[in-house]
Amino acid sequence: MAEDLQIAAGSKTEQYQSLIPQIGGLLEGETDLIANLANITGALKEQFNWLWVGFYLVKNNELVLGPFQGPVACTRIQYGRGVCGTSWKEKKTLIVPDVEKFPGHIACSSLSRSEIVVPIWKDKEVVGILDVDSEQLDHFDETDARYLEKVLQMLGGSL
Ligand code: SME
Repeated sequence: MAEDLQIAAGSKTEQYQSLIPQIGGLLEGETDLIANLANITGALKEQFNWLWVGFYLVKNNELVLGPFQGPVACTRIQYGRGVCGTSWKEKKTLIVPDVEKFPGHIACSSLSRSEIVVPIWKDKEVVGILDVDSEQLDHFDETDARYLEKVLQMLGGSL
């Protein structure tokens, strides 16, 4: 794999529709989870240029920082804490239009204004989460939720 990512213009949907098959190509034939998570963060960052995009993985009953793109971040998050720990506990995607209005939000970067967190599923268990932060208020919506959930489903065999 030595091809550059093709960066799409257009609507958010058009951007995801261009990116998702390319992520499929990046993951194809690779079974190493960290390698795949790393390439997903690179692809999403290149296409969308969000402030922060990365993974936390469940290890010994806490979330531990995994591959990411963006400013340095907190390394461990407890079950039920912050947006990430709440998404894990509630087993659902959380869209936070204004992080200052989310009780218990963990501010890894003071620049973050809105956030989306999507659980990673394996055998009916949440084994990690994808976290995306934006410098803009109200940046994420159901379109992001739907397509990011699709991206995580593509991890399939490497989980
Ligand atoms: N804001 C997250 C913490 C992780 S950082 O944003 C990278 C939270 O409240 O869980």
